[in-house]
Amino acid sequence: MALYVKAAEILDKAERKQGALKTLVYDSKFSNIKQLFALVCETQKFSPVLQEIIEATKLLKHTKLKLQLAKVLVYDLLMGQGLKCGGSWKALMMKHRSRLQAELARRKVKLGVSRNEDLLPAGVQQTPGDRLPRYVRVNTLKTTVEDVVDYMKRDGFTYRGQALRLEDLTLKDREFVKDLHLPELLVFSPKAHFHDHFLYKAGHIILQDKASCLPAHLLSPPPGSRVIDACAAPGNKTSHLAAVMKNQGRLFAFDLDAKRLATMSTLLLRAGVTCQQLANQDFLKVDPDSPQYQDVEYVLLDPSCSGSGMVCLRDNASTDKEKEKEEARLASLASFQLRCLNHGLRFPRLKRLVYSTCSVHSQENEEVVTACLQQNPGFRLVPLLAQWPERGLEPLSQCLRASTAKTRTHGFFVALLERCREGADARREADVLISPSDANPAPVSPAVSEKRPAASEGEESEASETEDGPTPAAAAEQTDATPSKKRRRKRKKKKKQAAAE
Ligand SMILES: C[S@@+](CC[C@H](N)C(=O)[O-])C[C@H]1O[C@@H](n2cnc3c(N)ncnc32)[C@H](O)[C@@H]1O
Repeated sequence: MALYVKAAEILDKAERKQGALKTLVYDSKFSNIKQLFALVCETQKFSPVLQEIIEATKLLKHTKLKLQLAKVLVYDLLMGQGLKCGGSWKALMMKHRSRLQAELARRKVKLGVSRNEDLLPAGVQQTPGDRLPRYVRVNTLKTTVEDVVDYMKRDGFTYRGQALRLEDLTLKDREFVKDLHLPELLVFSPKAHFHDHFLYKAGHIILQDKASCLPAHLLSPPPGSRVIDACAAPGNKTSHLAAVMKNQGRLFAFDLDAKRLATMSTLLLRAGVTCQQLANQDFLKVDPDSPQYQDVEYVLLDPSCSGSGMVCLRDNASTDKEKEKEEARLASLASFQLRCLNHGLRFPRLKRLVYSTCSVHSQENEEVVTACLQQNPGFRLVPLLAQWPERGLEPLSQCLRASTAKTRTHGFFVALLERCREGADARREADVLISPSDANPAPVSPAVSEKRPAASEGEESEASETEDGPTPAAAAEQTDATPSKKRRRKRKKKKKQAAAE
């Protein structure tokens, strides 16, 4: 119910020009920003059609609903996922469902079209190429790829074998293939929905975008290892890590948000994950020298980000003020991400750390990684998947990028850092010269809106959302831009002191 009230409120404000849709959504403080944004965007897109249906059926008169609320409810009932609320509104809408459906059908007949999308003016319609395939990750903790393929075939889907080229991922309604890069991934047409499917409900399949499967796949911690998932909720990458580890070893997963962590706990249970240890804790406050983390060799860091790679969260800042706000938001997020990255590298036995965002901005991706490598000479980048079509921006071509156009996924970035021997010596040297307070600046979380995947359901939990960050600490963040300068100054000072002595 809260979702529909919030969506109606935002549509109303947007109509009265009180702000851009995206800003209004970010500012709403709603718990599932991605879900809210998708509903608001779609309702707004279909607004003229919805209004005509509402007027033709005299829905407002019969129900006493306000126009914007009626629009979101009619959208979800006729074109969306079906009403997700219960209680009086659902009862009310169900009473009018047949008339609303008939009116929608009448409009399609009149225009000679079959899809809802065709009711929109040509400029607003999505081209089929804009729609992403439906990616299904097979949860190998519960089943095998072959068993899922067999099940799907028996369920009426046509199996087209192993995809060999990107074009093979463009599929007709009931077709599916094995992905060309990731062995546990099956690919279906965008129209395939599995939220009510037995395999989904039983945790045998996870609805996760292909790009979001990259971090655990690339980190690839062996069974029995000690692993940290630093910003873990709602836990799709955690369950993927557990599958890679075959549930053997220890998987420490942290998240600041208790509610999302609770949801994650349920999702992990459904996925059959048993090697996890969840903690509602700020990752930046986790002590790398604590005995319980002394054997941690792998870290997955997927921190809050702008979410600009998510197809439904594309930036739409248009005025100078909005652009300024967006820049400040990115700077704050990048600062937080760099802190997390630096912190992740402090675990004494760390071998590899994978860093990922679903952002398309270099400020949150290549720039963060470059700054981190400058500050941590003991680590270097690992070249990733030679056959992957989209690389990190030069000179960071070892990293991967992903996008709708080049990889048929949401926008994404992944970097894999590993400890190197020469660097390890450099690090020891640096450790002698850097005091602990310099090496570990005060923990800070993003001060502004951030992306966080929805915590509640399937595909939605893989797709990222944007929410308000936990603890604003803008002043402390200022220090992040110049840590290497500070260190150099400190070294010089120490050298001078040593010379004087
Ligand atoms: C991008 S989401 C993580 C998505 C997750 N890796 C997945 O695949 O399902 C970022 C998460 O970081 C959490 N977070 C933000 N600041 C944090 C901090 N300082 N310590 C731990 N978690 C944090 C947010 O609550 C959010 O759940």
